[in-house]
Amino acid sequence: ADNDEIKRLIPVVNKLQDAFAVMGSTPIDLPQIAVVGGQSSGKSSVLENIVGKSFLPRGSGIVTRRPLVLQLYNSPEEYGEFLHQPNKKYYDFNEICGEIEADTDRVCGANKNLKNQPINLRIYSPDVLNLTLVDLPGATKVAVGDQPKDIGRQIKNMIMSYASKPNCLILAVSAANVDLANSDAIEIAKEVDPQGKRTLGVVTKLDLMDRGTDARGIFTGEDSDLPKLALGFVGVVNRSQADINERKGIGQARDAENQYFSMHPAYSDIQERLGTQYLVKKCSQMLLKHIQSVLPQMTSDLNKVITQKEKELQEMGEIANPKRSRQDITAAILKFSDRFNRSIDGKLDPDGPSL
Ligand code: GDP
Ligand code: NA
Ligand code: MG
Repeated sequence: ADNDEIKRLIPVVNKLQDAFAVMGSTPIDLPQIAVVGGQSSGKSSVLENIVGKSFLPRGSGIVTRRPLVLQLYNSPEEYGEFLHQPNKKYYDFNEICGEIEADTDRVCGANKNLKNQPINLRIYSPDVLNLTLVDLPGATKVAVGDQPKDIGRQIKNMIMSYASKPNCLILAVSAANVDLANSDAIEIAKEVDPQGKRTLGVVTKLDLMDRGTDARGIFTGEDSDLPKLALGFVGVVNRSQADINERKGIGQARDAENQYFSMHPAYSDIQERLGTQYLVKKCSQMLLKHIQSVLPQMTSDLNKVITQKEKELQEMGEIANPKRSRQDITAAILKFSDRFNRSIDGKLDPDGPSL
């Protein structure tokens, strides 16, 4: 299939993701990219750079307490939309941040609990490539303050519920100024993807490394302390806390990042394989390639789900029953999957039927 057609597959997979979110279960393993790493490794910063906007809650402690499923759509208009608030468009990204916080509290309670139920957010922008990313809480081992005692295990379980799925690509984020070979991200990747087939390493905070040291060997593959990843490692420089406090914009930060790599003696000759813009391109290519490769299996899995749903519908009979909303959902999935099948035959309408 030609490149343009493949690109349209990401929105199709996104529609399935939304449908399953409404159903409250994910009967098939959808291709997506999960962002994993330790607390403060720079996950939120990487995501915001990918989007080109500041919209994620910040703060100390565990800010991300539910998975955030972030669907990016390339579009002339720029706004955000939550699955739990259909038809409400957010043009102010500060309000998106506020709603992520508010809905986290609504579902988890304000008391630091975690819930597996994701927040589904779409962002439309001329500056993004079609891409689906899942932000997860940072790995942590010890509970602090009034956090539940088993918080470490709860977070680990949540991370694993995404990262362990064979169709999940892993964006493993580690900071360059800590023991990288033993970072939380690398540990998770080694556990779920021991052969390094579906993990892309991201190394943040290159600007904070000790003077006279650099991470060049990681990007050229000469560093033997790190696991071999087929997708490799990409280095980035995000905004520092001081940059954020001074309200340095993301556009400015990207310029500064490019400047950093082009001026640095260890990186200037490999700069085209470093930085946020390269990371975005790489993620998009990686996801497209992956969707293409799993399409036959996905179609067959989806057909099984449909058969099962049809059976359930029959069993429910014609009695008016309180499960009506479930029938609506099933009908929507049937309608959609029909479109999905046709899309695979190359007649895709990316704007789809609305679910
Ligand atoms: P998260 O907990 O993994 O989501 O990490 P954040 O993205 O919130 O980053 C934690 C802190 O590290 C913030 O104060 C960021 O400004 C800072 N930070 C993240 N990446 C970089 C980087 O590449 N360079 C510098 N100097 N600071 C960074
Ligand atoms: Na880490
Ligand atoms: Mg974060």
